[in-house]
Amino acid sequence: MSAHPVIHTRDVRRVFESRKGFFFNELVRTEALKGVDLDVDAGEIFGLLGPNGAGKTTFTKIVSTLLLPTSGTVEVLGFDVTKEAHKLRPRIGLVLGGERGLYNRISARENLRYFADLFGVPMERRDKRIEEVLERVDLVEAADRRVEEFSRGMKQKLHLARGILHGPEVLFLDEPTIGLDPKSARETRKLIRSLVADGVTIFLTTHYMFEAEELCQRIAVLSRGRVVAQDSVAGLRKLVGGDRTIEVEAYGFDDGEIQRLRALPGVSRVVSEEYGPRLRLTMRVRTNELELATIRTMLANHPELALRERRTSLEDIYLDLVEEEAS
Ligand SMILES: Nc1ncnc2c1ncn2[C@@H]1O[C@H](COP(=O)(O)OP(=O)(O)OP(=O)(O)O)[C@@H](O)[C@H]1O
Ligand SMILES: [Mg+2]
Repeated sequence: MSAHPVIHTRDVRRVFESRKGFFFNELVRTEALKGVDLDVDAGEIFGLLGPNGAGKTTFTKIVSTLLLPTSGTVEVLGFDVTKEAHKLRPRIGLVLGGERGLYNRISARENLRYFADLFGVPMERRDKRIEEVLERVDLVEAADRRVEEFSRGMKQKLHLARGILHGPEVLFLDEPTIGLDPKSARETRKLIRSLVADGVTIFLTTHYMFEAEELCQRIAVLSRGRVVAQDSVAGLRKLVGGDRTIEVEAYGFDDGEIQRLRALPGVSRVVSEEYGPRLRLTMRVRTNELELATIRTMLANHPELALRERRTSLEDIYLDLVEEEAS
């Protein structure tokens, strides 16, 4: 870990006030962020996860100078985003995706020329740099077509190209692979990794757990405007109570049986859910002491018993964390 995190936030809050009702006379106050502390180190890929409406986009906009925090400290590359945004902007890139932010009536290449000029990419390097980024996002063939003809995935690639055009030191990506086909999504992840190899620090949000697990050194889980956990995937696994996940399935269990499973050594959590006509118990297990045979013996009265063990996945961890928060 470096001494100075590239992104450093303390107690970041953001309140939105909007009007609704027939006469727009009802003031609605939404606290999107309720005190967020995050640190992202140089050269890492940091992932922000969380349910819809948790505040991920709001936070991404604040750290990338697009939106002001209501209160709190936000420093990126040592600059205060509220006071030194003009110094910071040339050194960061932002990819929000969606329909906005691109000019539909002109080609992809013309869009990139426009943004290169806006970002201050020197004239003599501009066209070569544009070719480079078009190649990196695999848009060379479509480069001279008008953006209004682009599919959603092609637009997403153009957003990415725009984000890296000026060679930013920190890149903020809000759901970078949304709407991409599996091959393009994989290429985008490869591109993200290659940027890190060039020394870029990446901050991304995603709803794809395997993507976060594959890419990110560290992860924060945001829920209703608060960080509920911030660690490596291995650290998060410990936090939710174990590397091992054991699934037990049968046509029903009585409460006594579930209690006895809970009391077994190393078991931190047992959750039951209906699984078709059967009931599935998902057990989070901390230690190697517990053997599947012990469970099998305990539940020997269920002839249709199915037992399975797997490594606790990031999706398991995520669901544990956001469910705990909700209950
Ligand atoms: N401009 C705005 N005006 C009013 N409320 C807003 C505004 N932008 C966001 N919000 C509210 O702030 C909260 C957080 O929204 P945000 O878009 O940051 O969530 P998110 O985590 O990015 O969700 P998603 O996974 O769906 O993209 C939501 O309750 C949302 O309705
Ligand atoms: Mg969002």
